[in-house]
Amino acid sequence: MRVPDDLERVLISGEQLQARVAELAAELEAAYSEGDRPLLVCVLKGAFVFLADLVRHIEMPHEVDFMEVASYGSGTASSGVVRILLDLERNIQGRHVVIVEDIVDSGRTLTYIVRNLRTRGPASLRVCALLTKPARRECELDVDFVGFEIPDEFVVGYGLDYAQAYRNLPFIGVLKREAYSPSP
Ligand code: PRP
Repeated sequence: MRVPDDLERVLISGEQLQARVAELAAELEAAYSEGDRPLLVCVLKGAFVFLADLVRHIEMPHEVDFMEVASYGSGTASSGVVRILLDLERNIQGRHVVIVEDIVDSGRTLTYIVRNLRTRGPASLRVCALLTKPARRECELDVDFVGFEIPDEFVVGYGLDYAQAYRNLPFIGVLKREAYSPSP
């Protein structure tokens, strides 16, 4: 696919993504036994592309469910005040749950989700994130499976958006600063 003009560069190619997602699926399968039937919780919207590729590499029995949260705040940073827009269909009590996220930035969204799901009594709760930005982390948070650690740049593609655009790109790209912060 063509690289949009608003991108400064491609950070992670489609090939790199596919290879790492396959490895993550193997890491995930190794952490569970056949009878565990882990429940993968996709945090919408950003993680839908990652989840779709991830499950196609997982051969063990598992289920998927979806949750959508919104972080109050505007622009390029989340506020940490999180609201559930769509909750899980399944009762997760006694289940082995894996939260599947596209990116951990400040960590506030994930901290909220982990706390919330813990109150529901899962047998275990792990986190699988395609991308993390360690430089931006504000919350102490364990991410069990990490795809890539990335620098503090505004990234889009492979499910990640800017103003709802670019989710369709098969690679991760860095958005040009002028695309989200117009010069005065
Ligand atoms: C993104 C991402 C995480 C969150 C990470 O979601 O999917 O949920 O931000 O930021 P944090 O670590 O600073 O909390 P976004 O609010 O952009 O919604 P979307 O997934 O629907 O695009």
